[in-house]
Amino acid sequence: MAELLTVRDVMTAAPHAIGVEQTLAQAHRRMRELSVRHLPVIHGGRLRGVLSARDVALVKALDVELDDVRVEEALVGEPYTVSERTPLTRVARAMAAHKYDCAVVVEHGQVKGIVTVSDALRALAGALEAELGGAPEAMTPSQVREVILSEHVHIRGLLDRAEHAARQVRESPTDEGSERLAAAGGQLYASLGAHMELENRVLVPALESIDAWGRVRAEGLRREHAEQKGALEAAQAELGRSEQPAREKADGVLRMVAMLRKDLELEEETLLSARLLQDALPVGSADSE
Ligand SMILES: [Fe+2]
Ligand SMILES: [Fe+2]
Repeated sequence: MAELLTVRDVMTAAPHAIGVEQTLAQAHRRMRELSVRHLPVIHGGRLRGVLSARDVALVKALDVELDDVRVEEALVGEPYTVSERTPLTRVARAMAAHKYDCAVVVEHGQVKGIVTVSDALRALAGALEAELGGAPEAMTPSQVREVILSEHVHIRGLLDRAEHAARQVRESPTDEGSERLAAAGGQLYASLGAHMELENRVLVPALESIDAWGRVRAEGLRREHAEQKGALEAAQAELGRSEQPAREKADGVLRMVAMLRKDLELEEETLLSARLLQDALPVGSADSE
């Protein structure tokens, strides 16, 4: 029996915190810099609450300037706290039951870490994969096809969002528009990175198992992904470059979006057809004929 996971195994240790006197604008900037959605709020060395990206968004939706609101006014007090040794199962149950989206790890009155829903889901995926013998590869070709195609739907949604944000920046570059573009572009590029990893793990073996041509196709897909990875990294770096004018960044995103749309289409036509990925042979059994 595997050892029980505890909070310590999944938490983000020494999380960045923010003070009650700081403004929501400062907190918002900090969250974006760190790519986090929750900040513990500390006052006099003690935990006072948690501020989440959603709390900030709520204030923003009221058309209030984030510079005019202090963290103290928007934080959620009495956050759910746990210790490092709390079993993760307990924490996950409590988070689900009370709809908490994070737990703050406190030891002797000091904030030691934070566990978010994303951390809990990552642990869940790891545990499920371990139970399945680490084999998403055990999917049949038609399941692989379904999983990849549904991710394509999600990615198309992200492409639309990034394109929309880029067009707005092209029209009139504002700070807010640029922020939206950076967020949409960042999410798009990160999701694509994860998508390629999934394809390498499940689509490549599925293709390889089909027939002799499958190997050629799988090799082509790997090469394609290596190229895409380079392009994505370059695009991500460009988005983060502060000295580059917003309109140029928007043009870069629009070029990337157009290219990625073509890639998705081509992939669906050539590699993800129902005819190619059918279940006559379970994945991995090509040589058992
Ligand atoms: Fe791909
Ligand atoms: Fe894909």
